[in-house]
Amino acid sequence: MKILSIDTSCDETAVAITEGRRVIANVLYSQVLSHKQWGGVVPSIAKRAHEERIGWVIEECCRKAFGSSDEVVGNAMKRIDYIAVTYGPGLAIALEVGIRKAKELAMQYDKKVIPINHMEGHIYSCYVQNSKGNPPRQFEFPSLVLLASGAHTELVLFKDQLTYEVIGQTRDDAAGEAIDKGARMLGFEYPGGPVLERLASEVENRDTFKYPRPMYRSNNLDFSFSGLKTAFLYSTKKMDRDFISKNIKDLASSYQEAIFDLLIKKTSDALETYDVKSVQLGGGVAANRRLRHLMRQLAKKHKVKVFFPSYKYLTGDNAAMIGVAAYFRAQAGKYISASEPLDRVPRLSL
Ligand code: KG4
Ligand code: ZN
Repeated sequence: MKILSIDTSCDETAVAITEGRRVIANVLYSQVLSHKQWGGVVPSIAKRAHEERIGWVIEECCRKAFGSSDEVVGNAMKRIDYIAVTYGPGLAIALEVGIRKAKELAMQYDKKVIPINHMEGHIYSCYVQNSKGNPPRQFEFPSLVLLASGAHTELVLFKDQLTYEVIGQTRDDAAGEAIDKGARMLGFEYPGGPVLERLASEVENRDTFKYPRPMYRSNNLDFSFSGLKTAFLYSTKKMDRDFISKNIKDLASSYQEAIFDLLIKKTSDALETYDVKSVQLGGGVAANRRLRHLMRQLAKKHKVKVFFPSYKYLTGDNAAMIGVAAYFRAQAGKYISASEPLDRVPRLSL
């Protein structure tokens, strides 16, 4: 079963062709440079960039999968069984671009559409294999998933294929958003995650400034990062430029440690509450090696397996993960025959 998938939920124009869990072709047009100077993603810029690029990204993906020809998309469509598309959560005007394109293709080539929740895609990112079927990974249920991206921070009980229960979530900012805002306070552009990771590693992730950990001991699995962000803002405002530049690595490291400490504490609480076989990590923040190290330690302590997205491109937004989630949906008969009424749901939850 071959699926062509589209994701335009945020700032990446992403298209993939997958077969089962295997990726045949994956193409991404990243808009990160267009948003950098604004400190975050600007919806109207994202929409325009998606509109300008989506046609080319689809063509390029079809070409990569099946080779060049005059009618590259038309020829690819002869071999494609379904069109999958992200319909939420995400930026409304960005989601619309992908949905419109998916409907167009479905109509023109008579295909069924599989609507996918973007966060479900991040959950399935650990299932994605390369074109040769590696890694072969087998999964057992239930599994605990920590999703940490620029817009979401959630703990999800993954009970069986396509069956989820959100057991904890952020009450304010997402972990990635807190990271990006903290990095901006230190003078770095969007996205802040990779910069903080590098600076922190240069001081071995030590925690010199000991920033507060809101809701650390709350009796639930929810997260809160806004108090930490404010504490960081006030503390850096009191420092002069010279002090900041001399201590930049420690500031980055202490801030990152506070965020990861919260992520790990709540994941640990969840592992104590629920009997699971494995713990999975997904979302942009899952690229971070420090967080992976802490998750590995935690999994070892609780004697559960740990899974990360196996290739770096699978941590950030991409359409391969959407295609793999769609494969499980198609197998369960969860596709729609009439795509016309499909609409974006910007605040879609799992
Ligand atoms: O999943 P994603 O690409 O987009 C959303 O759906 O939000 O996540 C983007 C977030 C950004 O906040 C970015 O700073 C963060 O992921 N991120 C990282 C790293 N790489 C990206 N955070 C920590 N360490 C990284 N290496
Ligand atoms: Zn995402």
